[in-house]
Amino acid sequence: MTTTRIALATCNFHPDLAEDDQHLQRALEKLGVEAVAAVWDDPEVDWSAFDLVVVRSVWDWSQRRDEFVTWAQGVPNLLNRAEILAWNTDKAYLRELDAAGMPTIPTIWLTPEQKLSSRAVHTRMPAHGDFVIKPTISRGARDTGRYQAGEATSRGTAIKRAVQLLADGREVMIQRYLTSVDTVGEAALVYIGGEFSHAVRKGAMLQGQFRGAAGLYKQESMSLREVSDAERELADRAVAFARERLQADHPGEDLLYARVDLVDGDDGSPLVLELEVVEPTLFLAFRPEAAEELAQAILARLA
Ligand SMILES: Nc1ncnc2c1ncn2[C@@H]1O[C@H](COP(=O)(O)OP(=O)(O)O)[C@@H](O)[C@H]1O
Ligand SMILES: [Mg+2]
Repeated sequence: MTTTRIALATCNFHPDLAEDDQHLQRALEKLGVEAVAAVWDDPEVDWSAFDLVVVRSVWDWSQRRDEFVTWAQGVPNLLNRAEILAWNTDKAYLRELDAAGMPTIPTIWLTPEQKLSSRAVHTRMPAHGDFVIKPTISRGARDTGRYQAGEATSRGTAIKRAVQLLADGREVMIQRYLTSVDTVGEAALVYIGGEFSHAVRKGAMLQGQFRGAAGLYKQESMSLREVSDAERELADRAVAFARERLQADHPGEDLLYARVDLVDGDDGSPLVLELEVVEPTLFLAFRPEAAEELAQAILARLA
């Protein structure tokens, strides 16, 4: 009998995988599987030599999204599937969740095609309070900034920033800064093999204007947390939405992993900040069984 070989796709920053995914690697090895870290854009890797390729620590796709999606489409036996990765790498999917009746953060969307002047960008920004500017294609808070509407310099910087992103051909989102992120934090609900596993609280990430460097997670501000019925119900709906989309191409199949990030709106009810099915950190260390369950879910795909 030959040993099952699984590739855990990673990036150059983490040739030996991010810490979270090392838990998965060990869990797979405990099950007698060879789990190999392989850098997604390394031309030397023969992806077809693996029984399955699992997208994991690929933290550098956002500057090269098209290249990443093309890579995903060319890898046989990839999880999560290329079609769902292509969809999920652009936060435009949030409009679909919103249209399907899921509460999301109210957003103003700007596109390069609109050819907006600085003045036109200015009029689309909130008149009061703090707000966030982020590209629709981004991860790890890269190019994401927090600004103050009532402060001329901050507002001016925000306008320049948005205009620059648009000039670079990128779509831009403007959102009010939700202060609950600073007080209650963000809730990350982790799903493994389609089932809810555990939830983690994440502290605020945006201290000020955009962070240029590749944003890496600040693990230290995380803790395990309970979820309310309303949070659970909303996250379940978001995951079900992604599942249905996946099943359009792969009938009967479930997502291998997913994470839904929620924040409280001003009335305290949850809003979707992000649905992540590309390379979410799954905070496996927070629930000892989670890594094993993910390893089992991977093996089940081989059956
Ligand atoms: N509207 C918002 N209000 C408050 N904080 C925000 C808002 N949008 C983004 N953030 C902060 O920026 C971080 C990154 O934004 P997010 O939408 O999750 O994109 P990504 O994680 O893909 O870069 C969030 O984790 C949160 O801390
Ligand atoms: Mg996020």
